[in-house]
Amino acid sequence: MMQHKKVRAGITALGAYAPKTVLTNADLEKIMDTTDEWIRTRTGIRRRHVAGDDEFTSDLAIRSVEDLLARHGDETLAGVDMVIVATNTPDALFPATAALVQDHFKLRAGAFDLLAACPGWLYALSVAQAYVEAGVCKRVLAVGAEVLTKLIDWQDRSTAVLFGDGAGATIIEAVPEPFGLKSMILGADGSGGHHLHMGCVGKCLPNSTPLSKYVYMNGREVFKFAVRVMNTATIDAVAEAGLESADISLFVPHQANLRIIDAARERLGLAREQVVITVDEYGNNSTASIPLALKHALDKGQIEVGDNLLLVTFGAGLTWGASVLTWGGGA
Ligand code: UT7
Repeated sequence: MMQHKKVRAGITALGAYAPKTVLTNADLEKIMDTTDEWIRTRTGIRRRHVAGDDEFTSDLAIRSVEDLLARHGDETLAGVDMVIVATNTPDALFPATAALVQDHFKLRAGAFDLLAACPGWLYALSVAQAYVEAGVCKRVLAVGAEVLTKLIDWQDRSTAVLFGDGAGATIIEAVPEPFGLKSMILGADGSGGHHLHMGCVGKCLPNSTPLSKYVYMNGREVFKFAVRVMNTATIDAVAEAGLESADISLFVPHQANLRIIDAARERLGLAREQVVITVDEYGNNSTASIPLALKHALDKGQIEVGDNLLLVTFGAGLTWGASVLTWGGGA
């Protein structure tokens, strides 16, 4: 009997966008009780990009797709049959922001939003991978786009200094060996939902925690959780890929806090040059964080075809995810 070769999905095109307006730590010093020194030493953040009053998630998502087209050519969207926008800040609850992106580029594709907090883009990548490898879709446009600064309480210094806005777009399709996604680890622990939340139509969480009107975060608890899952998820992702830490060329973590990233890097035994850092420039832009970091690394020449990249992310839910990907395989 003829053996069918397994189809493997990979990322074949990428683009990203960050709004032009920049808020520095010095700007924040003027509007709240904080200091550049505190923000830099506790988080590694120096600046963050902030969407304008009339700029929303769909606008950023579209800009990131335009960047993808500028890099890879106008043909890159041909044959895209599904659009997924991972976001915590959709323009509207419905229609899906993904449908606005689909319409803007006049794609003959399905479209839906995906909400899994900061790991949203990695979850979208896993859905795209499953669609492509199962033959449901040929080419998926998976975008992470966020305007979290619109949902921040600017009086709350414990969250206001941390977030920025941005978007990253990726094309996922079948790639030849030895490229593509080698492992995908996804996890959630809803019992920790009260550590990081924002309300919508509900009143409170199951443990009676009233839902917050703005982004609420218990930073210390999320920090401990992040260090723990960055460790376990990366170990699992490397093992599932049949690799060892020494086989990883580049570590691309969620950009929330430099101390969390450093702790994970040290546990993995990786050198500083093997880690992509963008948190200093963008702060935490949630679902856009990893694709924006990938673009930064590509622009700096940190990624070569054939490199094994280790991606890891965590966030509200609590949720997390990690994946190993061998870069390349696009046309
Ligand atoms: O994608 C979402 C994932 N979220 C995260 O990854 C966040 C994870 N957590 C963190 O990154 C850190 O916990 C923070 C950066 C949020 C906070 O750092 P920390 O070292 O855990 O500080 P802390 O919350 O323990 O606060 C220490 C002190 C407090 O003052 P007291 O009580 O010791 O007098 C805070 O009130 O720092 C104070 N503080 C600030 N001071 C100046 C909190 N925010 C600020 C601020 N400026 N912006």
